[in-house]
Amino acid sequence: MRRASPRPWQGEAVQITVWQGDITTLAVDAVVNAANEALRRGGGVCGAIFAAAGPELDAACAAVGHCATGDAVVTPGFGLPARFVVHTVGPVWHGGDRGEAELLASCYRRCLEVAAEAGARTIAFPAISTGIFGYPPDAAARVAVAALEAGATDLGERLDEAVLVAFDDVTARRYDALLGAR
Ligand code: APR
Repeated sequence: MRRASPRPWQGEAVQITVWQGDITTLAVDAVVNAANEALRRGGGVCGAIFAAAGPELDAACAAVGHCATGDAVVTPGFGLPARFVVHTVGPVWHGGDRGEAELLASCYRRCLEVAAEAGARTIAFPAISTGIFGYPPDAAARVAVAALEAGATDLGERLDEAVLVAFDDVTARRYDALLGAR
């Protein structure tokens, strides 16, 4: 954890905030995992979440079995501070003409819905698809903010806070700029 930097976006029922650090340390109700369709332990944020949650998460994911790209499923958080993990599968970047933006927006939207259905009121998102899946981070951040703003309007009564987690300074500044510009 490096810096706590809440930047509430006022005017929406769901607060959208930015926080920089390791998502596995956050005591929110739900953390989002940037998963694969087989819901297997991976690298990146997925590896960190599985390591912190412990082997029960592997078993829970095996029981669920599959998640389509753009969709989300929920499991318990086991050893994590978070009660739930919402696993979502972002699109692999193929240049932008294979529906990547729509699929990425769908990830954010479905995570909000699935988290609310599970009873979570606070949820934290890593920068889905921007690591191993190769989505350009600037474009991904614009999709993330737009999708959360839309979700904040629709799901305001069911959720309190959506945290955009930045693993590095550049990502944190990118989110701050997008939220501050509105
Ligand atoms: N906390 C917060 N963010 C993190 C952390 C962490 N502990 N570790 C990595 N990140 C950030 C990365 O900096 C990147 O910006 O998460 C973002 C997403 O990167 P990836 O984890 O590579 O996710 P993605 O691009 O969606 O690729 C998913 O990778 O691990 C596999 O199983 C996973 O096949 C799937 C693919």
